Amino acid sequence: MSLPAAQSANPLRDPRDRRLPRIAGSCGLVMFGVTGDLARKKLMPAVYDLANRGLLPPAFALTGFARREWGREDFENVVYESVKQHARTPFREETWEQLSSGIRFVQGTFDDPAAFERLRETVEELDAERGTDGNHAFYLSIPPSAFPQVVRSLADSGLSAPREGTWRRVVIEKPFGHNLESADELDAIVSEVFPPDAVFRIDHYLGKETVQNLLALRFANQLFEPIWNNQYIDHVQITMAEDIGIGSRAGYYDGIGQARDVIQNHLLQLFALTAMEEPATFDAHDLRLEKEKVLRAASVPRDISAHTARGQYAAGWRGGELVGGFLDEDGIAPDSETETYAAIRLDVRNRRWAGTPFYLRAGKRLGRRVTEIALVFKKAPSPYFQEIAGTDVGNNALVIRVQPDEGVTLRFGSKVPGTAMEVRDVTMDFAYGNSFTESSPEAYERLILDVLLGDPPLFPRHEEVQLSWKLLDPVLEHWSRQGQPEPYRSGTWGPVGADLMMERDGRTWRRP
Ligand code: BG6
Repeated sequence: MSLPAAQSANPLRDPRDRRLPRIAGSCGLVMFGVTGDLARKKLMPAVYDLANRGLLPPAFALTGFARREWGREDFENVVYESVKQHARTPFREETWEQLSSGIRFVQGTFDDPAAFERLRETVEELDAERGTDGNHAFYLSIPPSAFPQVVRSLADSGLSAPREGTWRRVVIEKPFGHNLESADELDAIVSEVFPPDAVFRIDHYLGKETVQNLLALRFANQLFEPIWNNQYIDHVQITMAEDIGIGSRAGYYDGIGQARDVIQNHLLQLFALTAMEEPATFDAHDLRLEKEKVLRAASVPRDISAHTARGQYAAGWRGGELVGGFLDEDGIAPDSETETYAAIRLDVRNRRWAGTPFYLRAGKRLGRRVTEIALVFKKAPSPYFQEIAGTDVGNNALVIRVQPDEGVTLRFGSKVPGTAMEVRDVTMDFAYGNSFTESSPEAYERLILDVLLGDPPLFPRHEEVQLSWKLLDPVLEHWSRQGQPEPYRSGTWGPVGADLMMERDGRTWRRP
């Protein structure tokens, strides 16, 4: 993984120069679910952006597989429109020509052996004509209920089995199951066909620059690590707030809810990267080991009602616009008990974190879109400032701004000029935009490239998925007995229950 500041000190251990761009070798990407939102808005544009950055080889092919009665040209037009609308980098005719000459389409359903036979022939033709060399990744951007069928069809058609010296990989999108049991079932199906190192589970948060920077921030600097523990940190807040509602995703979201949708994966990954020990190397094995260790040491307090909160957005405001509630959304049952806001407290049983809770919250239709990790420090134990000057000193905070205003903020107290000794909080800021001229690649660019390169550190393995469900399952079970989630007005910062959850611990949520 190319972490800017995590270059290995030992060239024998890692001979690659991590400053150089990595370019994928000859290969093809087969996409299932090309009519979906994710493929159109993120995946196809990411493929184009990679091509535009010169990170795909000339011998690259993109094959779409779908039920639609499309020909090759129809699919090419779909890719073109999606690139035009959503690509990050400028449109260049040469890039498009090169990319589009490798576009293919196979029409069929997931359970049709003849369609998979056509897919196999297409892939073989590409190997012969375009030089994809037998290396193919299958991207399953499809509902999880269809995974087993597609994986089986890939096996039955022989597509999953690489020839000597070539590779076949499968990419699966979350949700990885609905709970621990279904995640295990899903894994059993996938691992019957693909060996563990050929399975790439996408958690797109791990592809975000700011998330990778967490490792550089923590371990490439001397400044932070000595105070990154319960001696200095009072608690940590990890927030993923969105101002949007569920949009047109009722079919996916209802019955899933916010905890399964983003806490089980994105937020627990952010938690693991923030709380873990320094890995021996940044190789997949070592990194995953540390993440798993800290996930294993984490737990939700026994009194689940007191230390978690859930809510459902009601009508309110988004921007200047009056918006309806979750129960008014198209496709949502009028008595749906799905939560659109979830907050949990995690305690970590280890020497570094005992006594320093982590609070994770995620919600839709909140005040604004922001994802951040805030380490809130203990108050300075200074008798002068606390007692003599009568100034209530604030908590210092280190805030890693994951998005949208990517950067890092340090908040600390400073004397107000002209006063005898009044202290007020000020901030010191690092913003990507001010320090670097390069714009950050989209998470999917990085992740798709890693799949094609076979570079696994940014992909959680099944053990991490299991540990996340072990943390969440008791909470979800408890919530399923609570009936309707507490409503909160759209545009606010969530249900009252979430504030009470913090008040019980003598703390408050940050208002980012
Ligand atoms: C997805 C969730 O994984 O992440 C969505 O399924 C959510 O519900 C999205 O909106 C947010 O991603 P980002 O990158 O915009 O923060």
